[in-house]
Amino acid sequence: MNKPILTGVVALIPVIFLSGFVLAQSAPVQTLRGAEVDEPIPLDQIHKNVEGRMQRNYRQQPPLVPHSIEQYQIDVRTNQCLSCHDWTKAGERNAPTLSMTHYLDRDGNELDHIAGTRYFCNQCHVPQADAPALVDNVFEPSSGN
Ligand code: HEC
Ligand code: HEC
Repeated sequence: MNKPILTGVVALIPVIFLSGFVLAQSAPVQTLRGAEVDEPIPLDQIHKNVEGRMQRNYRQQPPLVPHSIEQYQIDVRTNQCLSCHDWTKAGERNAPTLSMTHYLDRDGNELDHIAGTRYFCNQCHVPQADAPALVDNVFEPSSGN
């Protein structure tokens, strides 16, 4: 290839890129949320909290949480559940106190503060919702419950 042709080819490259860009821009923009930006999409109603108390399914079940937990932060620095449920606060906040099992470390020693194994409350306690099972199961409580 001689020099002028080569220069011509090199000069064409940005033109090709630009036309590709213009083509991409002219394609219609697809919505990811399936609705107009100003159209509210309501949450799935099945996950609404159930009022009152739901019955435990078996005796040892961690009780379901009968109130919303949306606002309660749990992280390495703070656990807002404890601001009502810890034994030091439950009286004044009128909330059920954590049972003794929450103050036993894994060696069975009694502690004054929540055990590390019970720190992340919603590992075991979930808000009550009448939601379909994620995985089908045939669980039944033992007759001795
Ligand atoms: C503002 C105070 C407050 C905070 C914060 C709070 N709770 Fe409660 N909680 C209550 C009260 C009051 C009740 C009792 C409600 C009732 O009897 O209907 C309760 C009930 C419960 C119960 C049911 C206990 C039982 O014996 O059935 C569980 C479980 C529970 N809360 C877990 C949590 C978890 C987990 C968090 C944090 C994500 C939390 N709570 C944060 C006040 C609080
Ligand atoms: C490893 C699972 C687990 C974790 C984590 C856990 N709990 Fe529990 N919780 C249970 C079980 C099981 C019960 C019922 C049996 C019992 O009292 O030990 C219970 C009972 C309770 C009760 C009712 C106590 C009573 O005497 O009626 C409350 C309130 C409660 N938990 C709140 C909490 C809060 C708040 C946290 C976080 C600080 C938490 N739990 C962390 C398993 C757990």
